[in-house]
Amino acid sequence: MLVFNKKVDLQTHLKQNCSNNSTIGFVPTMGALHKGHLSLLKKSLENNTITVISIFVNPTQFNNPEDLKKYPRTLENDVEKIKTISKEILVYAPSVEDIYEGKTKSQHYNFDGLENQMEGKFRPGHFDGVGTVVKKLFEIVNPTNAYFGEKDFQQLQIVKKLVEKEKLAVTIIGCPIYREANGLAMSSRNERLTEEQKDKASIIYKTMNEAKKLFGTKSAKEVSEFVTKAFKNNTMFELEYFEIADEATLLTCKRKNKNKKYRAFIAVFVNKIRLIDTISLN
Ligand code: PAF
Repeated sequence: MLVFNKKVDLQTHLKQNCSNNSTIGFVPTMGALHKGHLSLLKKSLENNTITVISIFVNPTQFNNPEDLKKYPRTLENDVEKIKTISKEILVYAPSVEDIYEGKTKSQHYNFDGLENQMEGKFRPGHFDGVGTVVKKLFEIVNPTNAYFGEKDFQQLQIVKKLVEKEKLAVTIIGCPIYREANGLAMSSRNERLTEEQKDKASIIYKTMNEAKKLFGTKSAKEVSEFVTKAFKNNTMFELEYFEIADEATLLTCKRKNKNKKYRAFIAVFVNKIRLIDTISLN
């Protein structure tokens, strides 16, 4: 199993092992891999001749230094998990220096307003950091296809926009959310939850499903009020936002239009750990 820490070594290997009809599937991650990540790797292996995964906790996308410090870093464990899928997968686990070359700064992007909604509102600069690192990683790996989980649905739309605006030759593939048995969306941050918090976090998916049902007959505003109330009475979880938005533009749904697709988005805190989730309402 090959683990590269330097982009030049990965690129040399790819040059030597790619032929004209090779395709490269790429799964960018920040590590602390879970079943959701492994499903992206499986999809890539099915559809490409070469699969690369990057494991890099990108400092420029964290607006909260405490979150960056506490983000789980479990490289050895991650490599063991990747091995269970295939020993052919190439792992790129660079240092900050290898990616940023002394300038650990993000570029400023205009993603046609997608960056100003939800996560963008609550995590200033987050999507500049994501855009910057994803572009750098695409330049290094030069993938044919890149796989992203739908849990970070706003990120997925933003990466598609990045590819469109920068005219990058890569196809972006969104993959379904993986959930624990109690409905909690799998996330690297779940590693920081206690068993009790994990168990009680079922409230997130349960409330999202109730919101989905209500959206059949109620307005977006009424559904939001219902969700706010559900969390008000809960001492363990603090609601940061709940939003019903147009799936394509991510603009808040003010009045339902039957020709549009909508999604509910949520962010909650449990003991300073931030969890997000999303569900299609159509
Ligand atoms: O979704 C993530 O894990 C990160 O935002 C990504 C896409 C790997 C960029 O750092």
